[in-house]
Amino acid sequence: MQERRINDSIDRRHHDQDRRSSNVVWQNSEITKDHRNTLNKQKSAILWFTGLSGSGKSTIANIVEGFLHRNEIRTYILDGDNVRHGLNSDLGFSDKDRQENIRRIGEVSKLFIDAGVMVLTSFISPFIEDRQFVRNIVKTHEFIEVYVKCPLNVCEERDIKGLYARARKGEIKHFTGIDSPYESPLNPEITIDTSVSNESHAANIIISYLINNQYIQLQPANDARQSLLQKLMPHRKSVFCGI
Ligand SMILES: Nc1ncnc2c1ncn2[C@@H]1O[C@H](COP(=O)(O)OP(=O)(O)O)[C@@H](O)[C@H]1O
Ligand SMILES: [Mg+2]
Repeated sequence: MQERRINDSIDRRHHDQDRRSSNVVWQNSEITKDHRNTLNKQKSAILWFTGLSGSGKSTIANIVEGFLHRNEIRTYILDGDNVRHGLNSDLGFSDKDRQENIRRIGEVSKLFIDAGVMVLTSFISPFIEDRQFVRNIVKTHEFIEVYVKCPLNVCEERDIKGLYARARKGEIKHFTGIDSPYESPLNPEITIDTSVSNESHAANIIISYLINNQYIQLQPANDARQSLLQKLMPHRKSVFCGI
């Protein structure tokens, strides 16, 4: 497998050299990431959720995004299934396609960081090398690896999409954990064991990390603004709200 991955990267490099123009020059813009982050009063970064199918990546990412949004933090979720419907609809699940899948997500995430947005990505992203690629294309503190750890047998019992059962029957090939490997992160910024922590506890761990490391600041809204917001959006929870 290692050999195949090396050959794949050589193929990709040759392909890239063929289509890459030698006349492309980076165009700088007057407004930078720092300006956008200052306007947004936040520090943009990627929360990169990785883990087996059914470990809880999408569930936790959604809870975290909901909390951040209610607290006026600009966010965007890139989720495996959705991205494969559009941007990456031409890719399958071979090692090579998984690598290209993650490369594109990484580049898109980098654009979101540049736009001053907190991006939450929810992909199995089983290979250390591919996750490292994304870590390397952004700045040190812009990549927060969240390892959503959960034993295979627990994910398989949950089997919310019925995919494990189908993979066991051989109806789905290259399924991570069954006939395709998952390489656990060696040094993730955050590890959550979802067979131990419930969903809101898991989300709390991530939010605390963002606050403690000054990615976000939560300001209680003043009373006048709070009552205006409540009039305009009666179903909206308090601006300074918990999970
Ligand atoms: N502690 C937990 N954290 C996240 N999800 C959990 C937890 N305990 C049980 N679950 C359940 O596990 C399932 C995880 O599914 P999902 O979030 O789609 O996983 P993934 O995106 O990693 O494939 C959901 O049905 C969720 O309700
Ligand atoms: Mg998911």
